[in-house]
Amino acid sequence: MKFKTISLPYERPLGGPADEDNSDQYTAAIPRNVISLHSSENDLIFDPFIGFGTTAIIAEELNRIPYGIEADRIRFEWAAGQVQHWNHIVHDDALNLKNYNFPKMDLCVTSPPFMPMDDDWNPLYSGDPNYAEYSQYLGKLESILIKTKEIMKPGAPLFIHTDDIETSVITPLINDMHNITSKHFDFVEMIKIEFSGEETPDDYQSTHLLHFRA
Ligand SMILES: C[S@@+](CC[C@H](N)C(=O)[O-])C[C@H]1O[C@@H](n2cnc3c(N)ncnc32)[C@H](O)[C@@H]1O
Repeated sequence: MKFKTISLPYERPLGGPADEDNSDQYTAAIPRNVISLHSSENDLIFDPFIGFGTTAIIAEELNRIPYGIEADRIRFEWAAGQVQHWNHIVHDDALNLKNYNFPKMDLCVTSPPFMPMDDDWNPLYSGDPNYAEYSQYLGKLESILIKTKEIMKPGAPLFIHTDDIETSVITPLINDMHNITSKHFDFVEMIKIEFSGEETPDDYQSTHLLHFRA
């Protein structure tokens, strides 16, 4: 697997509504780096797991046009409320994205929900016990990525934020996400991000991005 390491100044997550757990919100340093290096002003930037809107907020800061989907109503309402292009953010399961007539995107950067393989709460199905298996998590993620590719311009870059997770076992999410995604996208490289700066949390010194092309 082609691999490189980069260093980025850590940025605190932008935050969400009071009382809402935002521990899975990614640092704005990730979309800031990816969008500024791999797109141009007025390009269309997509995130199928928009969460609290970090990708969309940074896209607008950099004069790009954001689009996205979020399954959770509270997060969707927050994210849409943070951006000028609020009507480009939809509340639905990303599997349904073909229903929204999205234009073809220039770049996709996303942080999917992570599932440890010893868990039985599948975040892509809101914990529905009928879909409790890790294999069903990977299968749905793959289906969402296939739908995402359909609304990307040919050759457009896709960046997936991921990390291996350590619980009672090690879940090899980097490898598993690489395997499901490279069936449909051309793999470019894996990037290890090492964070710099005083604000870098002791337990979050680095993370990973998988880079593909549609
Ligand atoms: C890791 S978070 C994304 C955080 C985002 N990058 C941010 O900085 O706020 C993953 C998000 O995916 C959402 N999600 C889970 N299943 C989904 C689905 N099937 N379709 C769309 N969104 C989904 C979750 O509600 C969660 O907000």
